[in-house]
Amino acid sequence: MDVFTENALAGKVVFVAGASSGINLEIARHFAIHGAKVSIVSRDETRIASAAASIAAAGYTAIGFAADVREFAAVDAALQQTHAQFGPIDIVISGAAGNFIAPASELSSNGFKTVVDIDLNGTFHVLRASYRYLNRPGASLISITAPQGTNPMMYQAHACAAKAGINMLTKCLAMEWGPEGIRVNAISPGPIADTEGMRRLAATPESEARFKARLALRDYGTTKDIADTALFLASDNARYVTGAIVECDGGCKLGDASRMEAAEYAIGS
Ligand code: NAP
Ligand code: COA
Repeated sequence: MDVFTENALAGKVVFVAGASSGINLEIARHFAIHGAKVSIVSRDETRIASAAASIAAAGYTAIGFAADVREFAAVDAALQQTHAQFGPIDIVISGAAGNFIAPASELSSNGFKTVVDIDLNGTFHVLRASYRYLNRPGASLISITAPQGTNPMMYQAHACAAKAGINMLTKCLAMEWGPEGIRVNAISPGPIADTEGMRRLAATPESEARFKARLALRDYGTTKDIADTALFLASDNARYVTGAIVECDGGCKLGDASRMEAAEYAIGS
């Protein structure tokens, strides 16, 4: 059951960065279904045009622009065109990211820098550039972080450092921009099925099974789970929520004890 009406975001203007595929595309599609006009960006002109066309083909309002979030001017140009076509922007999602598995001892300076540039600097660019185009008071900004932002993970020093930075950036902007009626939150998704992120982290059925065994809910989430969380945070129902890192993660960060199977307690031995 969808607790939000189809018109929950009627008249709202939404900008989603990193939305040619996966979680962010689903957020854009979900918001369009709920009545918003959506503007989406990613690096690849063909992929982003096709993503925007897929939303528009279903009868919703969507436009797409190619922009690399590492370039402030490119992000600003996309926001400016969005503002010109749709008017002041109500909701911004910053979700562009890159990740790969690499031991820190083998990670080049450019490999580390590339992920920090896309995830952390890119998020600063998207949120900072959007500031002048926002419909305030009432604007809602959402960064997409990850469990890596609070829990260290092997072979992901680059992504962990970048996502930790996003968490702190989100809280700082929430403090600075709150007085203007701008809310800034982050969503921390757990492992999400059928995404590029999980194809990179759990490439085989065996590694997928090991991931699932470590989740309190024992299963991957869906892109719609994250889109529903984003819909709540973007809506007026979340009008008093700001500076929050909202976990929609199947309990993947709960303590080690929660991962113990009954037999591992060795009761009575
Ligand atoms: P995805 O499909 O690869 O999405 C990443 C998006 O970012 C793509 O649209 C990509 O499009 C875009 N992008 C990459 N570099 C960019 C750049 N420099 N400038 C602009 N756009 C760029 O991956 P996903 O798995 O759905 O992940 C989406 C978000 O959720 C990420 O922030 C990720 O960290 C987070 N997350 C995912 C999971 C998961 O289980 N998948 C778990 C926790 C957090 P182009 O290639 O067209 O540029
Ligand atoms: N292991 C170690 N280093 C790697 C790597 C890997 N698997 N993949 C890339 N790198 C390094 C490269 O070697 C390069 O460093 P170098 O110049 O010292 O050799 C550096 O990272 C940049 O690589 P490049 O391919 O030029 O970057 P890009 O900007 O074209 O692409 C990536 C960015 C690397 C993050 C790419 O994987 C990407 O586009 N990802 C987007 C999709 C994604 O990751 N989705 C999941 C989201 S969580």
